[in-house]
Amino acid sequence: MAKKKQEGYLSAREARRISRENRRITNGFEKQRKRKNVPEEEYLTRMHDANNSVEFDDLHTYFFTDAGTVKAVDGVSFDVPIGKTVGVVGESGCGKSVTSLSLMQLLQRPQGQVVSGQIRLNLGDKAYDVTKAPNEVLQKLRGNYVSMIFQEPMTALNPVFRIGEQINEVIELHDGEGKSAEDIKGRTIELLKMVGIANSEGVYSMFPHELSGGMRQRVVIAMALACNPKVIIADEPTTALDVTIQAQILDILRQLKDRINSSIMFITHDLGVIAEMADYVVVMYAGRIVEKGTADDIFHHPAHPYTIGLMASKPVVGKKIDKLYSIPGKVPNPINMPNYCYFKDRCEMCVEGCEGAYPEMISLSDTHKVSCYRYYGKEGE
Ligand SMILES: Nc1ncnc2c1ncn2[C@@H]1O[C@H](COP(=O)(O)OP(=O)(O)OP(=O)(O)O)[C@@H](O)[C@H]1O
Ligand SMILES: [Mg+2]
Repeated sequence: MAKKKQEGYLSAREARRISRENRRITNGFEKQRKRKNVPEEEYLTRMHDANNSVEFDDLHTYFFTDAGTVKAVDGVSFDVPIGKTVGVVGESGCGKSVTSLSLMQLLQRPQGQVVSGQIRLNLGDKAYDVTKAPNEVLQKLRGNYVSMIFQEPMTALNPVFRIGEQINEVIELHDGEGKSAEDIKGRTIELLKMVGIANSEGVYSMFPHELSGGMRQRVVIAMALACNPKVIIADEPTTALDVTIQAQILDILRQLKDRINSSIMFITHDLGVIAEMADYVVVMYAGRIVEKGTADDIFHHPAHPYTIGLMASKPVVGKKIDKLYSIPGKVPNPINMPNYCYFKDRCEMCVEGCEGAYPEMISLSDTHKVSCYRYYGKEGE
């Protein structure tokens, strides 16, 4: 029995118990969320630094599944400064998308819930904790303050509506007050031009399947930018594209960011893209941040063995090698995390102490932080 459990098998009785317990927990969260007329004081908060547009503070986002609780994001803290790009990197499944979906409050519910922590969103004159804001308020924040460019443009677009109608709808819903149909159409055409679509009038009345992948991705970007959001989340926006189109899309994003001075949270596992786009980099591993710093800190002075491994597994132009480095082993099972450093079993640089509790975040400099025993006693050097 004990052995079976270790291998991930559950008895029917155990599964029933888990799902009953899950329902109790998620019902509690849902009840809280569905309340009407929640007073603003409940979700009003203060930014710790007014120069940040978003502050993630000890965020815990769990999925209560029938196989157990997946701690997809487990104590993540980082800031997204106004007008800057923060790159979020890490292996598949480490919680990058779940972090961004927590900010948008678009988690798959009821099983996906922010169980603790804050996400402070700077609205200029005030700040909201989006994890406590009720649905009706979130609806206004999405699109106007925070918007998301999704990974797969074909699933983000509705195949049975024309491109123009879909962008018009976004403007109508979020920013349509006092605007005539003509105004809205004008804005849509302007957006299509802005993302570099030459035949914008023509594309306006086309269906998604009539466009190429690169054009669709541009449409999705146009949609995300329709209401000049303060924060743009780009979740692997160029993964599905070839490199030339990718370079063009990155250019467009950079120009747009400068034009409307918004912040970008850029999620990718492509370190080359991060090097080109990001001012700050956050490295995630198994639901936690293992290292964060400026792009220079991370690219020129990587400290965590995982970051060092990621850097070593990146091809370098002009350097001839037989085989690219790959980090051995795999990410631990998120339902059953060890009680020591999550990277220890794959780490080739362990030191004394690594078998102890999960390491704390250590400051190597004002900007550079790492969570690793190798740097204990070396703070601020
Ligand atoms: N709806 C869900 N139900 C249960 N578990 C989920 C759900 N969505 C995500 N997870 C789990 O949360 C963890 C983090 O997933 P996430 O999508 O954030 O990974 P990611 O870092 O974005 O990976 P990728 O680079 O592949 O996009 C994974 O272990 C995943 O299995
Ligand atoms: Mg993802």
